[in-house]
Amino acid sequence: MKESWKAHGLDRPGEVFKGHFGTFPTHLSRAPGRVNLIGEHTDYNGLPVFPMALRKEVRILFRPRDDALVRVRNALAEFPPRDFELSHRIEPYPPGDWGNYLKAACQALAQRLGPLRGLDALVSSSVPVASGLSSSSALVIAMAQALLAANELHLPLLELAEEMARAERYTGTQGGGMDQAIALGARQGHASRIEFKPLRLFHTPIPKGWSFVVAHTLARAEKSGPVQAAYNERAQSCREALALVSLALGGRGEEATESLSYRDLLLRFPVADLLRLGEDALPPLLFRRFRHVVTEAARVYAAEEAMAQGDLFTFGILMDASHESLRNDYEVSSPELDRLVELAREGGAAGARLTGAGFGGCMVALAHSGRAERVVASLAKGYFQGKVAGKALDEVLFLAEAGPGAEVTVL
Ligand code: GLA
Repeated sequence: MKESWKAHGLDRPGEVFKGHFGTFPTHLSRAPGRVNLIGEHTDYNGLPVFPMALRKEVRILFRPRDDALVRVRNALAEFPPRDFELSHRIEPYPPGDWGNYLKAACQALAQRLGPLRGLDALVSSSVPVASGLSSSSALVIAMAQALLAANELHLPLLELAEEMARAERYTGTQGGGMDQAIALGARQGHASRIEFKPLRLFHTPIPKGWSFVVAHTLARAEKSGPVQAAYNERAQSCREALALVSLALGGRGEEATESLSYRDLLLRFPVADLLRLGEDALPPLLFRRFRHVVTEAARVYAAEEAMAQGDLFTFGILMDASHESLRNDYEVSSPELDRLVELAREGGAAGARLTGAGFGGCMVALAHSGRAERVVASLAKGYFQGKVAGKALDEVLFLAEAGPGAEVTVL
């Protein structure tokens, strides 16, 4: 079932649009947020992830213009109006400004496709902001799709996903390509293993009787804010670790080392051998980062297999192991995330882990559907009581349903 406009804070969206621009919108572009089930901090290392799209989404009501102006209003007052001119070099707003996600999509498409006509747009979202559920990439994808449709242009899905993953680096985050790929390529009722270079998606139906519970720490993890430096630092450490391990392999007489990728390493060596190699070649901190990355990639394949077999127990164990690795080796958890994970397990979850970049944001837990309510109750009582109640609670603690990918409709 489609979400109502109420979840977007808009009762009569067409009227609101008209209030801003003096005329009604002609199109709706929508792109979902996502919850990553397993495979965290692997995508920018060229290794797989396993997310599903949410039913929560960014919506852009728009109307093409005859000139190159882009005028954007947001249903949320915390995001002020943003107007700019399309060109192949668009000056960014100051770091952290929400308008940079819009500009990221627009500049990339203008560079690729030449002069474009602009649009008037009204943005709304039911994806909690800065929560690790990819509201920002959903905005980038929704904007890109809107601009393409306004110009009656089309790019193949995987090409657009790759283009937008690159485009989003305009905002300063050295992100991988998971969020853009799942926002565009998701299949309803499925989780998707995403491989990179080249980008591919493999869908697995989510078994009946499996429920994914998502809970927000209430701590914002702004990808364009303080988290950005920590995130980029992790990516840099992974590159250094890879270079050192490659060098060590060269020292052992193994051939052509410089261009080795993490995927090459995993294809050539069993994980246990890689870990021995890494321990010898790397200083302790880099070794822990390296250990997370290679073990997490292995967990993605194991989890996909467990889902295909309907093996909830194993999937849960893998989620737990992922969280431990993210907490101890990758150091991207927080006391709040650890607490949510603990409460989910106490409530009877088969497994639980932080999802997204970490440093705040959300936790995801897997439970047998018969137990999901107990997991939710454990979280509500142990974490949210006295902090959030009523309708607001449904926004930060919910059962995630695997939704479809992005689309544009003519109104
Ligand atoms: C953020 C990035 C993704 C991915 C995750 C961590 O959400 O946007 O590309 O790297 O962090 O898995």
